[in-house]
Amino acid sequence: MNLKAETLAEIEKVIPQYPVKRSALMPLIHAVQADLGYVSDEAMAWIAAKLEIEPVSVLEVVTFYPYFRRKPIGKHHVRVCRTLSCALNGSYNVLDTFKEEFANAEGGKSFDDLVTVEFCECLASCHTGPAVLIDETLYEKVDEAKARELARAIKAEGESR
Ligand code: FES
Repeated sequence: MNLKAETLAEIEKVIPQYPVKRSALMPLIHAVQADLGYVSDEAMAWIAAKLEIEPVSVLEVVTFYPYFRRKPIGKHHVRVCRTLSCALNGSYNVLDTFKEEFANAEGGKSFDDLVTVEFCECLASCHTGPAVLIDETLYEKVDEAKARELARAIKAEGESR
């Protein structure tokens, strides 16, 4: 496992905070995903060994929560809210626009692994939807024109690499 020294230090600090090791499962999964971008099979086995639990116990948690990813994502992560308010305001068209711009299959990677586009659930910005989260930045009232503008900014960055 190629975790950063900071991540390993965080993990060693977190585990003793719980009365039983297995209770540190969620924080460890978060830490690993934050470091690697996803939770690989190898990472799940590593976490299981670290917490002295069966690997299937880690797999159950990783597959239960949509937030956790089992595959690598692109350098940029575009998440379009599909919950009711945003859906009524056109988020499905917004997702289609991003996919068209990146010629991408939903949930897949494209543009030389630069970006991953997918739906997500409520981003807590229901009154200003459609809401889009790109990496850690929230964009509100994203219509098709704004989606194209955001996608082209990401692509321009990719072209300048
Ligand atoms: S419904 Fe989209 S942010 Fe809440």
